[in-house]
Amino acid sequence: MSRTANQPDVLVVGGGIIGLVTAWRAAQRGLSVRVADPEPGGGAARVAAGMLAAVTELHYGEQTLLALNLESARRYPDFAAELEEASGRGVGYRACGTLAVALDADDRAHLRELHALQTRSGLESTWLSGRECRRLEPMLAPGVRGGLRVDGDHQVDPRLLASALVTACERAGVVLVRERAERLVVERGRATGAVLSDGTRVAAGQVVLAGGSMSGRLDGVPAEAVPPVRPVKGQVLRLTVPPAFAPFLSRTVRAVVRGSQVYLVPRESGELVIGATSEELGWDTAVTAGGVYELLRDAHELVPGITELPLTETRAGLRPGSPDNAPLLGFTALPGLLTATGHYRNGVLLTPVTGDVMAAALADGDVPDEARPFAPGRFAAGPPRIPSGRQEQPV
Ligand code: GLY
Repeated sequence: MSRTANQPDVLVVGGGIIGLVTAWRAAQRGLSVRVADPEPGGGAARVAAGMLAAVTELHYGEQTLLALNLESARRYPDFAAELEEASGRGVGYRACGTLAVALDADDRAHLRELHALQTRSGLESTWLSGRECRRLEPMLAPGVRGGLRVDGDHQVDPRLLASALVTACERAGVVLVRERAERLVVERGRATGAVLSDGTRVAAGQVVLAGGSMSGRLDGVPAEAVPPVRPVKGQVLRLTVPPAFAPFLSRTVRAVVRGSQVYLVPRESGELVIGATSEELGWDTAVTAGGVYELLRDAHELVPGITELPLTETRAGLRPGSPDNAPLLGFTALPGLLTATGHYRNGVLLTPVTGDVMAAALADGDVPDEARPFAPGRFAAGPPRIPSGRQEQPV
């Protein structure tokens, strides 16, 4: 296959943090890259709280995902420093740790189970009494019955991260095309580019679907290569801690209240992010009175002082959920088409490892070992159709 001088090696469909990190890392590997997105740096990262919660968001049956999450968390400090250097912008990486607390006997039993699972998984997590929790975080409610101190679960500011990735991409020579990709172009059984919303056609050696929850909606993708992602709505609130109230919280505080997750993520800037609902409602992104009420009610039970703070923003975003809650990274059944999507609750956490994995796939034609369990074709019935090793590169 021959390419013209203007044809990039890679077209990334979707310019959220996953698409941008893929583009940036691929450009660093010497590939010419375009990203198609009407609003690069937008998407779910505009809403996300940015918890890097590999340990506190551990779930039964997700041990394989845990390994990838831990690996990405391990890479975060160097990734953040390199991105800040490359972009000249801060990303708000804060090694603050997390405290997961229980408010009643049921919550405490749930947290004990989580602690046992963490311990069996070799993770660092310390059980604290209610009094010890309040000593760490004096704004906690007097009724807190106990908690887990997890010093390795940190945070980053996803909005700063997205802006830094936009700049880093531009500085690395990535071309950001501010149009939506509407249709994949397939020729002779291979993805060769996409048609954009303004009618232009971008031909490329390889195409990466990185459109978050929208990744399955690009026209022209053959059924066997469509990523099985669905939108999972999350409503999130932003409050502001006035300087007179600081320090309000010194680390992320979270709990399961009546079966729902609630977390409070304090930024050094004074922003306090409260999240998040988890709703399977299709493409709905309305902020609802009920969603805001439940988040404030649960957060207030944890930290009563939040009612004094200005409520500065309410938003809803869509997580890209996959059938096993883990991402789809690498080659699809259609030659020339890759995916980087399905990150569900872990998109911000998995940004560093996703960039590395996708750049290796695009530049070397093979995915690193840590990504092999996350092949996009793992849900297909019958024998695997995904090449497990090196994929032929277009010339
Ligand atoms: N990881 C937090 C969330 O998705 O709400």
